[in-house]
Amino acid sequence: MAQPLNLKPNTIYYKPSSCTLIIFIFTLCIITIYTFHHHEPPPSQTTVNNHQPPFISTFLNSASNYTISNYLRHLTLHPHLAGTPPSSSAVAYVSSMFKSFKLQTHVANYTVMLSYHVNSSLTAHFSNESSVSLTLTEHVADVDNEVVKGYHAYSPSGTAYGKAVYVSHGREEDYRALEEGGVDVRGCIGVVKRGGGVSRYAAVVKAAEKGVVAVVMFTGGTGGGVERGTVVDGVGDVLTPGWAADGGERLSVEDSEVLKRFPSVPSLPISEETAEMILGSLDRRVGPGPTFLNFTYQGENKMATIQNVFGVIKGSEEPDRFVVLGNHRDAWTYGAVDPNSGTAALIDIARRYSLMMRLGWIPQRTIVLCSWDAEEFGMIGSTEWVEQNLINLGSKAVAYINVDCAVQGPGFSAATTPQLDDILIEVTKKVQDPDVSDSTLFEKWRTTTEEGPLIQRLSDVFSDFAPFLHHAGVPSVDLYYGNAFPVYHTAFDSYDWMVKHADPFFHRHVAVAGVWGLLGVHLADDPILPFNYLSYAAQLQNYTDSLCKLLEEDVSLHPLTSAIQELMDAATQVEDEIKTIKEEETEGHVSVLKRRMLNDRLMFAERGFLDTDGIQGRQWFKHLVYGPATESKLGFFPGVADAIYQSKRQAVIQHEIWRVARAIQRSASALKGQLT
Ligand SMILES: *[C@@H]1O[C@H](CO)[C@@H](O)[C@H](O)[C@H]1NC(C)=O
Ligand SMILES: *[C@@H]1O[C@H](CO)[C@@H](O)[C@H](O)[C@H]1NC(C)=O
Ligand SMILES: *[C@@H]1O[C@H](CO)[C@@H](O)[C@H](O)[C@H]1NC(C)=O
Ligand SMILES: *[C@@H]1O[C@H](CO)[C@@H](O)[C@H](O)[C@H]1NC(C)=O
Ligand SMILES: *[C@@H]1O[C@H](CO)[C@@H](O)[C@H](O)[C@H]1NC(C)=O
Ligand SMILES: *[C@@H]1O[C@H](CO)[C@@H](O)[C@H](O)[C@H]1NC(C)=O
Repeated sequence: MAQPLNLKPNTIYYKPSSCTLIIFIFTLCIITIYTFHHHEPPPSQTTVNNHQPPFISTFLNSASNYTISNYLRHLTLHPHLAGTPPSSSAVAYVSSMFKSFKLQTHVANYTVMLSYHVNSSLTAHFSNESSVSLTLTEHVADVDNEVVKGYHAYSPSGTAYGKAVYVSHGREEDYRALEEGGVDVRGCIGVVKRGGGVSRYAAVVKAAEKGVVAVVMFTGGTGGGVERGTVVDGVGDVLTPGWAADGGERLSVEDSEVLKRFPSVPSLPISEETAEMILGSLDRRVGPGPTFLNFTYQGENKMATIQNVFGVIKGSEEPDRFVVLGNHRDAWTYGAVDPNSGTAALIDIARRYSLMMRLGWIPQRTIVLCSWDAEEFGMIGSTEWVEQNLINLGSKAVAYINVDCAVQGPGFSAATTPQLDDILIEVTKKVQDPDVSDSTLFEKWRTTTEEGPLIQRLSDVFSDFAPFLHHAGVPSVDLYYGNAFPVYHTAFDSYDWMVKHADPFFHRHVAVAGVWGLLGVHLADDPILPFNYLSYAAQLQNYTDSLCKLLEEDVSLHPLTSAIQELMDAATQVEDEIKTIKEEETEGHVSVLKRRMLNDRLMFAERGFLDTDGIQGRQWFKHLVYGPATESKLGFFPGVADAIYQSKRQAVIQHEIWRVARAIQRSASALKGQLT
């Protein structure tokens, strides 16, 4: 039957002649029927503990671009915005797939406040006295009313009439430049170009602060596409900040805590084409005027049920240790890239794990596959779940591996907390590169910089790793192909676009699923957790060196360097212990308890970076090494970054440095595991 083409033994791509395709699908059906409906004992595979080569190779050999493309096709048949009826079909699809693969499947519901478009209009009145009603959504022939019109979730409703003015990215420096050029933006309608590291929320809030009465926002390079998105600040349900939306306490919509998370002026997204028409009619393309805009937006904030779907494989030896793999399912439109390329990969991992289970595999630790809802409204599904399970995750979660937009285009990217660098690299050495035949993903990825593969970090809050890392202190990973894609949050993010532009043969999907699934297997099965804290300490030292170049001499970095030294010592000691344990094991002295105690220390070391008081002013964010700074210029130590760029006072900077130093000491102390 099918011919392995891309001749790396561990990845199977099938040649697409229609005949082989039919045979292949037929065979798949037979295998599936056999596998899942044939109730005889699994083929006798020796021990459950023998988790190394047989199951890893089963995993690698079972890669298939056909299954993944098929899942993506199903998921993207209709738009499935959170809280709307079509999103229930997506829930049903994912949970039926998990069930068909014999995972323990359940759904967790939350009732949260979502925000929908009701009505909007935008009319331009030009100086030649003509008026044009501007379109606020894409012209897509067969879309009709299926796709929601362009809007900003949680924008206040409102109408405004005023001169149009172009405020660039809407940063402080953009307004300063306008002011220096004699441009008065007060009472105007601001046209913002997305970018410059400014979130939608921040751009609208800054505009309001400058006296702009409404904002229209466009994204360069998107043509006729309209980028939907949320303008809420922070993550999670606004009515239950810090606790789960489980039917208990809820703030009122008028509560000041709630109101301060919304901008005070309304905003709408527009296409680049519409923006060009407005800008082209302005004085010097800046204005204000002579063109006037008449803006109306009416939205509705309403309570809706959101649903997270889980597929669980219970661990054999340590069922109370959780390895969590997650991706969101809700989409602004069809969501082929965002997020269902990731959902298709997640389902395919379920399929491959189930094949391994048929051969006798039971992971040592519990694996939890999560399909989150309402990420697009501010990581709501994952956040509510993490808040609800905070104690159990805090004491039992080994790691969280996130994939959002699995494939946006070419080029592998990964971000991790640093103790996971080594295992990530090791895993990429086992996965076939999707674009270079006979090469591993690692070989291609390592050429991205002269120093080797670039591993990014996770300070920014843009996907579901945020609650796990920033709130619960769970070591985290985020994986994807491609850096940016022009159909982001537009009606054009469809299956056809994926096939035409991002992944014609679904090989990149297969590669992401490979890295993701293998990380899951290692984290669940490696007898000693594959965490390297020397790597963390080195990264922290690098941050400290960067600070040293930035800060004046009267701020002391000594607290940091000495805390990092403590972490380094603890990590070195752990390395020695691991060696000893491994030696003892080769001599036949396996001490399960010894391993478990060591693994606990490795797991808890990340929690040390959490601080009860969190980041000043954003206390839900507890992690003092990675998290969002008000101006995210550093990319690490958010509290220190805020002190440097906002407060600017030496004493405040020094205090924040002490706080990070104490966090690092806590981590070192968790790793040592000794009382003083
Ligand atoms: C979750 O909500 C859905 C839709 O409202 C409902 O059908 C289902 O029974 C709920 N499930 C649970 C576990 O509450
Ligand atoms: C929406 O606005 C248009 C004009 O801007 C108006 O004709 C229509 O009745 C409005 N629809 C609703 C539901 O308010
Ligand atoms: C008026 O000006 C606008 C913007 O410059 C232009 O698009 C439109 O064609 C003009 N209409 C007439 C009637 O000249
Ligand atoms: C702006 O548009 C709204 C809704 O279409 C309309 O009711 C209103 O009269 C318009 N205002 C101006 C000044 O044109
Ligand atoms: C799977 O990969 C093969 C080999 O590159 C390709 O010919 C085939 O079209 C792919 N299948 C899908 C569904 O993309
Ligand atoms: C920190 O590491 C990065 C990446 O390896 C490197 O480019 C940078 O120069 C280092 N910074 C310092 C201050 O050593």
